[in-house]
Parts: sequence; structure tokens; C-alpha cells
Amino acid sequence: MDQQIKELNAFLEGEFMGIHAYEHYIQNTQDQAVKKDLQTIQQNHKMHAIFVAEQIQNLGGTAVDDVGIVGSFQERVAQVKGYPKETHDIIKGAIRGEEFGTDMMAKMVKGDLDQESKSIVQSILAEHQQHIELLRKHLK
Ligand SMILES: [Fe+2]
Repeated sequence: MDQQIKELNAFLEGEFMGIHAYEHYIQNTQDQAVKKDLQTIQQNHKMHAIFVAEQIQNLGGTAVDDVGIVGSFQERVAQVKGYPKETHDIIKGAIRGEEFGTDMMAKMVKGDLDQESKSIVQSILAEHQQHIELLRKHLK
């Protein structure tokens, strides 16, 4: 049970990383159609965070409410490198984040999750795939 809560909390930190990254992308986007989709995606990640936190609590654990130590280090690195300013680069950055983040998050929950947690995680990861497809439409 403890291991499961740990894994779900690591997964939850991934969601917070996404929420924060989209905040930068949204602020930097001039294109209104792109901005709308970025907002929709950020809202989805917020919902994901709510669902995962609720599940952790239902399992008797305490849900984290931010990105954690590793995450905040990575965010500082991203800040120094600078977030993309051009719409095209923003979309590419968001796609890379969804792909890389989803990959990392899938690895975090490799252990034995109970059936309910597993199905929550699966549906979230499937939505991340949909985000990638939504973002790719703006590259055409
Ligand atoms: Fe998410």
C-alpha cells in the first residue's frame, strides 16, 4: 500500500509539472486558437491531479500538492533555458513535454497498483495521447 501511494504521488508530481509548464506556454502564446487548446489541456491536467489526489486519499495516503524536489530542480533548469516564445516552438515544447512526461509517469506506476488506481492511470495516460494529437493539428 505504501509503495502504491508513493508511486501515485510521483505520478501526481508529473501532473503538477505539466500544469506549471502549460502556464508558461499559455502566457507566451499570441495565437488565440492555440491558446484555447493549451488552456483545455492544462484544465485536463488539473482534473488528472484532482483524480489522482483523491485516489491517494482514498487509499489512506497524503497527496502531494506540488512538483517535489526533483521537479522543482527541473523547473529551474527550464526557467534558465527559457520557455519558447514562438507559437510553433511552444507547440513542439508542449508535445515533447506530453511525450516525455507521459513516458516518465508510466514508468513511475510500474509497480503493483490496485485495479482502481490502474484504471485511473490508464485513462489519464490515454488522455495525454489525445493531447498530443490535438497539439499536432496546429503544426499542419
Ligand atoms: Fe495529465
